[in-house]
Amino acid sequence: MNEEQRLESQKVENANSSDKKSAKDYSKYFESVVTAPSLKDAKQRGKEEVKYHNDFAIPEEFRGMGNGRKFYIRTYGCQMNEHDTEVMAGIFMALGYEPTDRTEEAHVILLNTCAIRENAENKVFGELGHLKHLKVEKPDLLIGVCGCMSQEESVVNKILKTYNQVDMIFGTHNIHRLPNILKEAYMSKEMVIEVWSKEGDVIENLPKVRRGNIKGWVNIMYGCDKFCTYCIVPYTRGKERSRRKEEIIHEVRQLAAQGYQEITLLGQNVNAYGKDFDDSSYRLGDLMDELRMIDIPRIRFTTSHPRDFDDHLIEVLAKGGNLMNHIHLPVQSGSTEVLKIMARKYTREQYLELVRKIRVAIPDVALTTDIIVGYPNETEEQFEETMSLYQEVGFEAAYTYIYSPREGTPAAKMEDNVPLEVKKERLQRLNALVNESSADALKKYQDQIVEVLVEGASKNNPDVLAGYTNKSKLVNFVGPKTAIGKIVKVKITQTKTWSLNGDMIEEFEPAGVN
Ligand code: 5AD
Ligand code: SF4
Repeated sequence: MNEEQRLESQKVENANSSDKKSAKDYSKYFESVVTAPSLKDAKQRGKEEVKYHNDFAIPEEFRGMGNGRKFYIRTYGCQMNEHDTEVMAGIFMALGYEPTDRTEEAHVILLNTCAIRENAENKVFGELGHLKHLKVEKPDLLIGVCGCMSQEESVVNKILKTYNQVDMIFGTHNIHRLPNILKEAYMSKEMVIEVWSKEGDVIENLPKVRRGNIKGWVNIMYGCDKFCTYCIVPYTRGKERSRRKEEIIHEVRQLAAQGYQEITLLGQNVNAYGKDFDDSSYRLGDLMDELRMIDIPRIRFTTSHPRDFDDHLIEVLAKGGNLMNHIHLPVQSGSTEVLKIMARKYTREQYLELVRKIRVAIPDVALTTDIIVGYPNETEEQFEETMSLYQEVGFEAAYTYIYSPREGTPAAKMEDNVPLEVKKERLQRLNALVNESSADALKKYQDQIVEVLVEGASKNNPDVLAGYTNKSKLVNFVGPKTAIGKIVKVKITQTKTWSLNGDMIEEFEPAGVN
């Protein structure tokens, strides 16, 4: 099936089948709606095979579309979105557009959105409000909404009703269609909406313009099949699809050859890498074991799910070398009862056992985590179990959140007897513990020498350099600008809650690969 036939069939499917509601809701705009999102469709997990495409090309008719025009992309949310922005920037550049970091100068503005919590969404609606005046001043300006929010029908409805300054909405599975969507938006007076809810494909050769040349992201898989009861990601990012190992290894080799010092393997649940391969039992441990042979100083991965963190992966990570000794392992709660309602599929004890195994294999590992407080009906005792787990594991840092109901997820339908004030108070108590633990972990670095990959000037002081250690600790230090992009040795002179200060002592030559 070619692109057009496929689009046509999706259009029919959406209008006729499970997406009747969206078709009805959008009827008065229907001409402009190519495909509208449906969370119900997005939830389906079929057995169809993943198709791999290696034939992306900008069609002749679109070449030069961006000549004399500038694009601006604002990115919200996780690294996956940051990386998608790099791909969209690549497509824009291939079309002849130039980048700008000023909205006033842009001919196209895209908001690459995040749907993980309500406040992330509110920021986007706020920004759309701000952009309205630009559209009034420059009627030819195109404003687009993409990323996870565009996969939600409630968001698309709200934009249709309230934000007529928006010209195009496209989904996370439609990024490669950006040239067609732009063309359509230039030609149509209506809002162009193209959001596929189900996508089983992996598109390999999309162009990319990476931000910076020191650290690079490499997707290893897309989507998530875990369906934790609070989480919108399996709906907005589709089913788990792993990239072929050859493509990943090739991309990492290329980055190494270009002088990148660090790569982070990306996926919503990287530990499920390979589970969708019918024809092989190749998993994340096997991939890491091959990647560590590549001559690149640092390799990281994010984000892990404890459930799929297998012994072979631990064994491979224990080989060290360019595999960094920092693991981000979201636990979400310390209470087995809450974990069950979250559908995390592990208990407190199983999580602690995993931590024990990791520490035996990698004694010098830094563990960090994600925690949600105030889950529906969370009791004081259950919250206290999260506090005690935090101490028992000895996490060095955490991202902490108040639970935010996401329409369409099972948790959003749960009754909740925990008042917001109580949730806020729990978050404060947890954050106090997180800060104290981070400060304690950092105190151990006083007068120590650490290896820092220097990223550039510090955010707060242009005369000071900043970078991260192997264990992802931020270090601000005095040193020459020539150190940027290199791994250097820094002596720590002061420790704070979230960062270290120090003085550079020498450049560091990382040992060869293992
Ligand atoms: N409410 C609050 N936090 C959430 N997260 C995911 N969904 C929600 C939600 N509905 C958090 C989890 C996850 C991190 C990326 O965001 O902790 O690990
Ligand atoms: Fe969301 Fe992560 Fe759970 Fe997947 S594993 S549903 S991305 S929290």
